[in-house]
Amino acid sequence: MKHTDIRDLFEDAAYCGREVTVCGWVRTARDSKNMAFAALNDGTTLAHLQLVFDKEKLDPAPFLKLGTGLMVTGTLVHAMRGQGVELNVEAAQVLGECPPEYPLQKKRHTPEYLRTMPHLRVRTNLFNAMLRVRSEVSGAIHEFFRSRHFTYVHTPILTASDCEGAGEVFRVTTMPYGADGAYPEEAAYYAADFFKRRAGLSVSGQLEGEAAAMGMGKIYTFGPSFRAENSNTPRHAAEFWHVEPEVAFAQLPDIMEIAEDMIRHILRSVLERCKPELDFFQTHLEPGLCEKLRGAADSSFGVVTYTEAVRLLQESGAEFVYPVEWGCDLQTEHERYLTEQIFRKPLFVTDYPKQIKAFYMKQNPDGKTVAATDLLVPGVGEIIGCSEREADLDKLLEAMDARGMRREDYADYLDLRRFGSVPHSGFGLGLERMLMYVTGISNIRDVQLYPRTVGNIR
Ligand code: 4AD
Repeated sequence: MKHTDIRDLFEDAAYCGREVTVCGWVRTARDSKNMAFAALNDGTTLAHLQLVFDKEKLDPAPFLKLGTGLMVTGTLVHAMRGQGVELNVEAAQVLGECPPEYPLQKKRHTPEYLRTMPHLRVRTNLFNAMLRVRSEVSGAIHEFFRSRHFTYVHTPILTASDCEGAGEVFRVTTMPYGADGAYPEEAAYYAADFFKRRAGLSVSGQLEGEAAAMGMGKIYTFGPSFRAENSNTPRHAAEFWHVEPEVAFAQLPDIMEIAEDMIRHILRSVLERCKPELDFFQTHLEPGLCEKLRGAADSSFGVVTYTEAVRLLQESGAEFVYPVEWGCDLQTEHERYLTEQIFRKPLFVTDYPKQIKAFYMKQNPDGKTVAATDLLVPGVGEIIGCSEREADLDKLLEAMDARGMRREDYADYLDLRRFGSVPHSGFGLGLERMLMYVTGISNIRDVQLYPRTVGNIR
């Protein structure tokens, strides 16, 4: 269908005074004695195009019902009120009718109500803005890595290993209902399945990413990860998008520099390209959002060791639900206190106790901590998990044995330490957590098109 994007009409003054055809959905409508008005949105911009109907020329009734899909031709003119342009309609056609039971009748709905209709909430300003920012953030991530000669690799989604070793893997099977009863042992049951062994959805592309980096030097993956965590929180989803660079010949400070540069690049891109969307979020969700993002884009991030962070939390006098002591995993409340109250900017917490971190992290000479860091940001908490990898075969085996991991399940990974093992590091950024930080949206369910969480899939 030959038509012009509404975004172009707002951005290119040359359209003014010309006849144009646009398509879109009616967002709001108003009827008066001689005239009628409808706000049309086609998803290319947050702004609605005002349609002006002269009742002497055209009966506007069929074109004023909320949610109706329209194709409209008319003359684009300067808006009577305010800035911008509007369309004096000469001809209109209903492409898709929308009956009054259309659920998005009100101007504003609660996020909880909108979550009950993921297929329709895309037609709200909130999702219009969020999805455009999500697209820009994704583009900025690719731009960042590609401009630095990282190779974009696609790690498998179906896998036989559990990268994080936390047992949060969704199983993949073609076995029929009740088949397990026919097998005396677990091993025999898995051996009869599609892959002839236990398989699942990847929680992280890291292990395969490390293999790629050991030949390609600098790689990144950007795809979905899956976690069967029974965590019903505003920042955990069962399916999320994961950005994972892996860099050969890089130690912890090198990878931290890359992570910080990447976050800054994303922030600058969004500040430059998504101004209307950020203004929208700032008005409706988080006062001071743009200043927060500009501040983070222009200044260096904080760095503190885990040991020092624990001391700062203990001495803060703040009351936490979970008490803080050396050796404990930092909870969201601790993370947020550190980044929001103490440092007031994005913060790397480094050198965590080895017991609370994954087997693959490089052990520090102190014997107690690992060369790992989490990046915490205000409003969200952890958005990046990062580490130098243990490149020494014996130390890696020791860490696996201490966790009761089966060596044969990680044979390929262990080979990487046998054949030309070099220092290397990487990190994982959760795209949705980054989006929560950038938009001020406080629930991960509202930065995904179709969120999957415990007890929720459609
Ligand atoms: O800290 P995590 O578990 O680290 C890894 O998966 C490493 N293998 C990454 C690497 O070094 N290549 O996860 C990394 C990030 C977290 O900081 C968080 O942003 C996000 O992934 N994440 C989740 N996001 C949404 N829902 C969940 N359930 C998430 N689990 C992790």
